[in-house]
Amino acid sequence: MESQSITSNFTEANVDALAVVMFKGEKPSSGTLKELDKLSGGHISSVVASEEFKGESGDLVLLRLEKKGKVKAGKLLLVGAGDAGEYKAADVSTAAGAAVRCVRKSNTKTVAFMPRCEADETTIVQNAVQGAVTSQFELDKYKTKDKNSKEVTKFVVCIEGGNTANMKAGIARGNAIGDSMNFTRDLANEPPNILHPTEMAKRAQAMAKEVGLKCEVLDEAKMKKLGMNSLLSVSQGSEQPAKLIVLTYTPKKSTGKKGELLALVGKGVTFDTGGISLKPGENMGAMKYDMTGAATVLGTMRAIALLKPSIPVVGVAGAVENMPDGRASRPSDIVKAMNGKTIEILNTDAEGRLVLADAVAYAEKLGATRIIDMATLTGAVIIALGDHNTGIMGNDQEFVDQIREVGKEVGENYWQLPLGKDYSKGIKSDIADIKNIGPRMKAGTIMGAVFIQEFVDKAKWAHLDIAGTAWCDNAKPHQSKGPTAVAVRTLVGVVERSQ
Ligand code: BES
Ligand code: MN
Ligand code: ZN
Repeated sequence: MESQSITSNFTEANVDALAVVMFKGEKPSSGTLKELDKLSGGHISSVVASEEFKGESGDLVLLRLEKKGKVKAGKLLLVGAGDAGEYKAADVSTAAGAAVRCVRKSNTKTVAFMPRCEADETTIVQNAVQGAVTSQFELDKYKTKDKNSKEVTKFVVCIEGGNTANMKAGIARGNAIGDSMNFTRDLANEPPNILHPTEMAKRAQAMAKEVGLKCEVLDEAKMKKLGMNSLLSVSQGSEQPAKLIVLTYTPKKSTGKKGELLALVGKGVTFDTGGISLKPGENMGAMKYDMTGAATVLGTMRAIALLKPSIPVVGVAGAVENMPDGRASRPSDIVKAMNGKTIEILNTDAEGRLVLADAVAYAEKLGATRIIDMATLTGAVIIALGDHNTGIMGNDQEFVDQIREVGKEVGENYWQLPLGKDYSKGIKSDIADIKNIGPRMKAGTIMGAVFIQEFVDKAKWAHLDIAGTAWCDNAKPHQSKGPTAVAVRTLVGVVERSQ
């Protein structure tokens, strides 16, 4: 899809369809809406009067347009955006996505979108383009027929009287972020026979080459040398060797404080059977997504390489497969992690934290002073928060607050759960330093977090449990079902606000 922007009158765009945002209870009584109402033969007024279109977020109505005068479009889409007072830049993304998904159903190839948002032009256009780009992602990669062939090929954002250079910058930013989100989603959607740790490392290397990142892949021998026995214990039952993927972004000229380094760390379990603590068969296939934390790190690093912020960022993704086998870890095994702590593995299905233990410690060894880890870590977070909020926990309240604030701005919700000494006691082991599970049925998500915390030394650290938000079971007006690329936009925002 090609994205463009225009600053002239919206109705004159050279496209098949015009899409315009309308708010709750709004009538086409002035300006462009009034003009469009006339061009549609009064149909905006009539669908508003009949309450066929109420302007609620998610409302979509497609009307005909007369191709009169300079108007080239034959269709007009009304895109509901809810309360005008609450409409912000992040909502432009969902409105644009819903518009693109709606018009392409009727085989429309080119669409112009009028966001009607008060934010700055670059941000508006960025959100519109990102929303349009991510809205076209489908799960049909492996279909040999019945693919979605109805792609929109041209998307035009219109802000009358806008600044062309700012809008161009918005297009570049929107494409960088949108394509990177789709990169993350493609990885998350890959079947585990294709995307094993070695393949993930290959994709990371190819991506790094494409966008100009440094990429180093640590193999098992190297990890063994570093003492990463916690991570390695997870993959020892698999035919697939573990890989630790390290992506480094170095700005041309850094504005960050000397010695500061932000690390993004991800859980990359390319398939989680549970290991010897085998999961039930029902819906086990969902566990192909257990590498989404790592995919989020890769996608975010891709976006960062393209956006070129002025602070250094390192991405660390621990890629392993968790399988039951004669060589697999047993419940009650004890391993020593890279930071010297001993872990009693009482449940081989609590494997993500074993991977992150060494990945997080390695990030700090690389010099990280701030660490954000992402993981589909616990079923418990789905029970607590469903798929509407990502669980967030951390050792520094300011850092957690910053991530939550950025999340709010970009339209991603985070809900904080507490940590503390009382919870940390839950993972004390009788015979090793710690164990990889807490008390039965108690604070499952927090137990995962306090475990990872044991491997953070001095860095400020936040943990995002994306088990509920990384995958969406139902399609939305702006987005197909499946992987969501949650957190990519937040992480990009955190990086850019740290400049
Ligand atoms: N990858 C899972 C978390 C998960 C479970 C995500 C269900 C989505 C749906 C993780 O590795 C896991 O198995 N966690 C266990 C931890 C338990 C054994 C302490 C869980 O949540 O049941
Ligand atoms: Mn597991
Ligand atoms: Zn897992």
